[in-house]
Amino acid sequence: MIKLENINVNYHDKQGHILQAVNNVNLHIQKGEIFGIVGYSGAGKSTLVRVINLLQKPQSGKVIVNHQDLMNLNEKQLRATRKKIGMIFQHFNLMNSRTVHGNVLYPLRDAKLTKQEKEQKIQQLLELVGLADKRDMYPSQLSGGQKQRVAIARALANDPEIVLCDEATSALDPKNTQAILKLLKEVNQKLGITMVLITHEMDVVKEICHKVAVMEKGRVIEVGKIVDIFSHPKQSLTQDFIYTASNIELAYQNIFDHPLLANKLQNDCLFELHYIGHNSFNPFISELYRRYQTEVTILYSDIEIIQNQPVGNLIALITSESTPIEKIENYLRQQNISMSRLNALQHENYYLI
Ligand SMILES: Nc1ncnc2c1ncn2[C@@H]1O[C@H](COP(=O)(O)OP(=O)(O)O)[C@@H](O)[C@H]1O
Ligand SMILES: [Mg+2]
Repeated sequence: MIKLENINVNYHDKQGHILQAVNNVNLHIQKGEIFGIVGYSGAGKSTLVRVINLLQKPQSGKVIVNHQDLMNLNEKQLRATRKKIGMIFQHFNLMNSRTVHGNVLYPLRDAKLTKQEKEQKIQQLLELVGLADKRDMYPSQLSGGQKQRVAIARALANDPEIVLCDEATSALDPKNTQAILKLLKEVNQKLGITMVLITHEMDVVKEICHKVAVMEKGRVIEVGKIVDIFSHPKQSLTQDFIYTASNIELAYQNIFDHPLLANKLQNDCLFELHYIGHNSFNPFISELYRRYQTEVTILYSDIEIIQNQPVGNLIALITSESTPIEKIENYLRQQNISMSRLNALQHENYYLI
């Protein structure tokens, strides 16, 4: 549905220096996918997403949307294509002088529909987002979550094939965030709309995305299916993001602050283990004891279901007197369990080795 090839976007800063906001980015987004783009502020996410509807023209690269090369379109064709790409923003961007109804009607102003058809459409959209009873209210009378629902209805007015969401939940509290993500998922499933979802929160990605790209300093540094990224992140920035979406950081703090454990850490090896899918059902801990008389003390564990796959994270002390730890590592690797050893002496910095 969306192909970005070798996209570069440069800005000039106030001193006239060139700032490379998007640096040679390649992305392929399939039809019907919810595709997340995650990165810290300034990574280039918003710039990149504006390239998809050519609100931002790249200095070089190709933008192919639904088999059309957008750079080859004239203004009129581009306007028609943009109508099929809805957009949702962090701060909703509603027109305050218009009612809920008026905001959803606005993008239909040039649509070739009768008045009655437009009204029907608006009614359907407001029902879809759960705001049918708020049609005559003004944005100032609505909560943040409700405003974003209006923005979603507005974005869907012209039956888009793609919806771009730029930090759509970043101004919302956790409860409204969950509700809006649920609605976006519903829209994706019911209407088959391809979604690109930009966020600085890995939690959001984990909740609804099928795939994710991680951006840093204008580059896409890692891309993949959610389950793969969450179970085997390759880049340290990706690991950081995943940590922020888990309780593992807090678990480490508790572990290292515990006086009894602090002593034990001098002798035993601390490991972080990750596994996905069927592995989570393998009794590998009892198997380690049976095979190698190795004792595993679980200090922290959690299993999450991400895109219908169990993804497990574990922090464990491994005491192995008779078997070299390398042998145990090999065995676990054969079971598709990745592990990293934590150097207890450097634990203040949580160095993984
Ligand atoms: N219109 C602009 N003019 C100059 N610099 C810009 C402009 N828009 C964004 N930038 C800069 O480009 C970089 C990427 O910005 P942006 O795409 O907004 O990142 P993100 O959405 O990931 O926070 C930042 O360093 C930002 O300051
Ligand atoms: Mg942004």
